[in-house]
Amino acid sequence: MPAWLRDAVFYEIYPQSFNDTNGDGIGDFQGIIEKLDYVKDLGCNALWINPCYDSPFKDAGYDVRDYKKVAPRYGTNEDLYRLFNEAHARGIHVLLDLVPGHTSEEHEWFLESKKADRNEYSDRYIWTSHWIQGIEGHPYIGGEADRNGCYMLNFFKCQPALNYGFLNIKEDWQKPVDDPACIATREAMKDVMRFWLDHGCDGFRVDMADSLVKNDDENKSATGEIWKDIRAMLDKDYPEAAIISEWSNPQQALKYGFHADFYLDHHGNGYNTLLRDYETKGGDRSFLKKDGNGDIMRFLNDYLPKYDATHTDGYISFITCNHDTPRPRRTLDYDELKLMTAMFLTLPGVPFIYYGDEIGMRYLDIPTKEGGYTRTGSRTPMQWDNSENHGFSNAPKDKLYLPTDTSDDAPTVKDQAKDPSSLLNTIKILTAIRHEYEDFRADSSFEVIYAEAEEFPFVYKRGNLYVAINPSDKKSSVSMKKKHEKVFEIGSTEIKENSLLMAPQSFVILR
Ligand code: GLC
Ligand code: CA
Repeated sequence: MPAWLRDAVFYEIYPQSFNDTNGDGIGDFQGIIEKLDYVKDLGCNALWINPCYDSPFKDAGYDVRDYKKVAPRYGTNEDLYRLFNEAHARGIHVLLDLVPGHTSEEHEWFLESKKADRNEYSDRYIWTSHWIQGIEGHPYIGGEADRNGCYMLNFFKCQPALNYGFLNIKEDWQKPVDDPACIATREAMKDVMRFWLDHGCDGFRVDMADSLVKNDDENKSATGEIWKDIRAMLDKDYPEAAIISEWSNPQQALKYGFHADFYLDHHGNGYNTLLRDYETKGGDRSFLKKDGNGDIMRFLNDYLPKYDATHTDGYISFITCNHDTPRPRRTLDYDELKLMTAMFLTLPGVPFIYYGDEIGMRYLDIPTKEGGYTRTGSRTPMQWDNSENHGFSNAPKDKLYLPTDTSDDAPTVKDQAKDPSSLLNTIKILTAIRHEYEDFRADSSFEVIYAEAEEFPFVYKRGNLYVAINPSDKKSSVSMKKKHEKVFEIGSTEIKENSLLMAPQSFVILR
């Protein structure tokens, strides 16, 4: 376990939309470098950068054309190495996004694999053995290659599945996981990881990490074996490198070697009930909505078994949002966003802030871009100030990668930096507290102190500190065994002899 993860607070950067320094309307590495002091000042000491490799961008870069070369629109490989160095000089670790399950259909491996003549890459992807033979339960992809076969996709049409083999073999073209071709795929991916780690990268967020072996069992044990093998390589040669999975099943991911696993938004899961319950019929009962009459047990019943089963193996990562999810500002107001961040920054595990969520950027209803579809509205340019294009770029408006929020009250870093009680400044205080107290390390103890269905507040203990949150629009109180001292509060809270009184929408850390 890389020690630095214990105190890591991540900042996710969608490179297209962060900061453009050469006026072409698209963010770049130099733009990230110029904002590293901002990231540091926010209290984030780690970055996850979405895929920045050469790509035809049919899925925003998750369709990789060359794993070892960056997309020219962001700069050169040397610029990225410089970014690693500049980040390290500020104590910031950098994760790249590894996409191991598929490549772009324009990747050289795939172009070779499509050929009629057999070659080194013929079995790098999953092909049936006849041009009219599809794959049961999958879209039929034929007529695209000279070879006599159809291929399997991993996500969009532009993303053919790499071949790590099949666990339950049902067809003669399905190879076992120990087939030399499948082992070659895994070794090729390890080679990609080594390449970036050798150039100063600190690890990877791993895309669709559970998708490698096909016809896997319900525990994904064959895919898990691959990750164990990769983790063994890291432990031996890169013990400080971190891998964080897009799996959303920590009982599997952390057991198979990931250091952390994202707690993603799935309808009805614990994370969803905290802030994204708006798809539920009958209204939004999110715990963090002041009028949601939320129920903390909907969260705990899902989260606690996950936490209990995995906290000795690795970390669960709470996210404010990500590039696939509507921004929380879509349904939460600023006060609710403050409480959300306060909660995520004081729970165990390794938290992630998605760029722009620290100022409550809006989810915009805009047309799709680069395969984003409804995700596009969460990928708009960072709003730095009130100048043209919100300081993101000096390109003409119609040349921007995506439009910025043009509303009069579009939040900006510049405005919020001036206001001591802004979301931005509240987050800065919270990250500072998180770094200051050993009690808030990713692996420091966690215990639920008070949680009752449809009651407030929710109280938990981290190390020797108590955290209480009352997100509702009604005041609440809870009895406490001793008289505590306040470390930090949002809203107003009062400590009486044996109880804690909390105003509507308040939060407090007690010592
Ligand atoms: C992951 C990414 C998403 C991408 C997909 C295919 O879910 O987060 O953005 O489209 O994988 O790579
Ligand atoms: Ca640029």
